[in-house]
Amino acid sequence: MTDSEKQPRTRKKPEELRSHRWYGVKDLRSFGHRSRTAQMGYDRSDYAGKPVIAIVNTWSDINPCHTHFKQRVEEVKRGVWQAGGFPVEMPAMSLSEPFQKPTTMLYRNFLAMETEELLRSYPADGCVLMGGCDKTTPALLMGAFSMDLPTVFMPAGPMLRGDWGGVVLGSGSDSWKYWAELRAGNITEDDWQGVEQGIARSAGHCMTMGTASTLTGAVEALGFTLPGASSIPAPDSRHSAMATLTGKLIVDMVWNDIKPSDIVSPEAFDNAVTTVLALGGSTNAVVHLIAMARRAGVDLTLDRFDELARRTPLLANIRPSGQHLMEDFYYAGGLRAMLARLGDLIQRDCLTVNGLTLGANIAGFKVFDDDVIRPLDNPVVASDSLAVLRGNLAPKGAVIKPPAAEPHLHRHTGKAVVFDDYNDMAARIDDPNLDVDANSVLVLRNAGPLGAPGMPEWGQLPIPKKLLQQGVRDMLRISDARMSGTSYGACVLHVAPEAFVGGPLALVRDGDVIELDIPARRLELRVGEEELARRRAEWKAPPPRFERGYGAMFSQFVSQADEGCDFKFLETGATAASATGEP
Ligand code: FES
Ligand code: MG
Repeated sequence: MTDSEKQPRTRKKPEELRSHRWYGVKDLRSFGHRSRTAQMGYDRSDYAGKPVIAIVNTWSDINPCHTHFKQRVEEVKRGVWQAGGFPVEMPAMSLSEPFQKPTTMLYRNFLAMETEELLRSYPADGCVLMGGCDKTTPALLMGAFSMDLPTVFMPAGPMLRGDWGGVVLGSGSDSWKYWAELRAGNITEDDWQGVEQGIARSAGHCMTMGTASTLTGAVEALGFTLPGASSIPAPDSRHSAMATLTGKLIVDMVWNDIKPSDIVSPEAFDNAVTTVLALGGSTNAVVHLIAMARRAGVDLTLDRFDELARRTPLLANIRPSGQHLMEDFYYAGGLRAMLARLGDLIQRDCLTVNGLTLGANIAGFKVFDDDVIRPLDNPVVASDSLAVLRGNLAPKGAVIKPPAAEPHLHRHTGKAVVFDDYNDMAARIDDPNLDVDANSVLVLRNAGPLGAPGMPEWGQLPIPKKLLQQGVRDMLRISDARMSGTSYGACVLHVAPEAFVGGPLALVRDGDVIELDIPARRLELRVGEEELARRRAEWKAPPPRFERGYGAMFSQFVSQADEGCDFKFLETGATAASATGEP
């Protein structure tokens, strides 16, 4: 994009609005639209000649991360009205991470399709996307990228810090930690209940550097939120103000016709990836950003993550890679301060939703606490907060988060203990007779996009109980699953191709030697080619997981982890925003 293309373009005229074809023309159909809008209690002056703003709201009674969206949507509407727009709330499937089985990931593409089709089929001129809980963020944006109407994302914001008798608790991470302590007999049932009551104290998404904080930060750096929006805790009064400002902004974006295709670029995606790395973000960002980039027609590869990881320091000292939580990150200056600190690692001339460049939006922002947002000369880790592995066990790649693993496991050779699927693992992991020691390599297969199905967050396999009791807290684990961003440990994830489609993970047997070398980016199964060929010939494809419904469509079209797990037929670039199938 050249500089001149970034200048505000000529403002649209009311009759050029997409919604004009619903409301403005003189025919029977538009009479119907107007009379039915009157039925909802509006006067013509409420909407005539104004941008219709679709507010895609992923509120639900069963999504604790979005409980404040009932109020926030009113605040967004307030902004839209003030700026002279006509707000229309459109509820969309709420992907609730804690409740949805087998995994919200199965439904990410469903929400993406729903978002795209809501925007296509209704008189939307622009949209505000309300999300934050893990998959809602990529899903909403994937749909909006395909539709390519002016779009701004309103992030849910992290919840407050957890607390248990003065101990600061972090979402997810401390569930795993205290669950392990309970199983090891180090805390009581009463203690465990104290953790239950204190770990989630307000509305908002997980406040560790899980998928939610990772993706909302990445999307801010990509240019799709108001500056600073992703760091504001959900219950903070600034979050309400941000919602209203978002409503005002989108109306302007419609008049100025600033669309996702004006904002996305290889450089903008580099900024998003760099942000994920400097945040010490979730490995899930790899799958989601690749899927988002493909929707936007940008070729983002696994290898690009690895290249950027080698030069990007991890600055955000936030759990699970660090010590603090998102509330601390906000008080320390938030994402803008961190991006400002990254200097030349961020490409400053990328356009953002407010019509200014990312560089302009972060200029002058300062860090208030050097322990929470580290200086470049004292990072949490100097580089490699994520690593992409390849080898005969993962020909199309696998990922690991080295800072979350104990350093002695960064180079490790051990014998495989293989679990054929999740149920097999759950049934045997704590068996006192399981042939396993601290050097073993736990392998879980058939947990990928097709095998599980939906690629759930099963990649942080539990440490066998007998090893926990011996004091073991980390060991090498390998799977074709994902892992929660709030998890930690030496977990090799997203092995591609997955076992279910005959990837090499399907051929591993108990006792095989597996070698991991993170510095060399290698993951090898030490079994000869002839023996592997013999096993491959014996391998039989498992029966499909679904015979009907959405699951059958998912199985037919989902791509592997290295390609983002989108449906192949949705990966093409933006379609014409006008495609409604009728004039
Ligand atoms: Fe919603 Fe973690 S459960 S973000
Ligand atoms: Mg999560």
